[in-house]
Amino acid sequence: MAVLVTGGAGYIGSHAVAALLEKGEEVVIVDNLYQGHRDAVLGGKLYEGDLRDADFLGKVFQENDIDGVIHFAANSLVGESMKDPGKYYHNNVYGTLCLLEQMQKAGVSRIVFSSTAATYGEPERVPIDEYDRTLPTNTYGETKLAMEKMIRWFEVAHGIKFVSLRYFNAAGAHASGRIGEDHQPETHLVPLVLQVALGQREQISVFGDDYATEDGTCIRDYIHVSDLADAHILALERLRKGGESAIYNLGSGNGYSVKQVIEVSRKVTGHSISAKIEPRRAGDPAVLIASSQRARNELGWSPKREKLEDIVTSAWDWHRSHPNGYEK
Ligand code: UFG
Repeated sequence: MAVLVTGGAGYIGSHAVAALLEKGEEVVIVDNLYQGHRDAVLGGKLYEGDLRDADFLGKVFQENDIDGVIHFAANSLVGESMKDPGKYYHNNVYGTLCLLEQMQKAGVSRIVFSSTAATYGEPERVPIDEYDRTLPTNTYGETKLAMEKMIRWFEVAHGIKFVSLRYFNAAGAHASGRIGEDHQPETHLVPLVLQVALGQREQISVFGDDYATEDGTCIRDYIHVSDLADAHILALERLRKGGESAIYNLGSGNGYSVKQVIEVSRKVTGHSISAKIEPRRAGDPAVLIASSQRARNELGWSPKREKLEDIVTSAWDWHRSHPNGYEK
């Protein structure tokens, strides 16, 4: 039996594929390689193609004995989603519909879904738990919420069980040093700060220092990408054991401000990292911190690389050894 990983050549997907391979799982990967990288796939069988291509995806299900799906394939840039919502509805929502239809056809009834804290929008309180209000403030979060809801209705009608994992801020890289974060364009704080340390960027822009936080900059809950990867394996195990569908937050429960991330990066890299205060970025909540108690209790999950310094160190190891990212 094989696990199908959609978007397995992307940042978080490739770390999940690595974790599955380490567990001895047979892995089939589908990725259109628009954002993903062939070199990020450390093993398994890679099919290059798009979920929205029914003939292609049907063939993947026919050729492999798939017992569960881990679904990452999606566009995930908040800013872009506000400029081109159609792209997000088409790739994310319609892509998920195509996947669910093929799963139903092939009789595959387990899916672990890559969701996001962006489903909550501006939180009413922190830490955020899974019962809190979901009111996305951007199209990206809205499409992820729509995808979660769609899967839920496929459960009601067709018995497809799901675990939806709402990530907070993924960062860091695999311990092997072989895979890490390489987005084009890069918009995330940790890799951008490390690009400054590498001399590839003059300075890091700090988007706003007038938030209602101690140092005025936004606070986020950074979680190591391999801790996220581990949670997918536990989620799949839960479904294999006949566990009920569920939604879990995944964060470390610790909040760090933008200024703290820059400070820790200075310490880790030994570079001064010049920073400039800029206006706020639209749609940024002041504080996002997860309560991951439910994942801890029900999945038996706990982050193993909790300290921001360790997360940044692993990201720095990758960026130093791959200053230009993947070759392909
Ligand atoms: N930031 C800067 N300067 C930069 C880039 C980011 O100050 O050059 C700040 C942002 O304003 C934010 C923090 O650093 O306060 C983190 O920003 P990221 O872009 O790294 O991450 P986000 O919190 O915006 O987004 C992440 C994921 C999204 C997801 C969201 C859920 O990347 O996919 O968390 O909350 F939707």
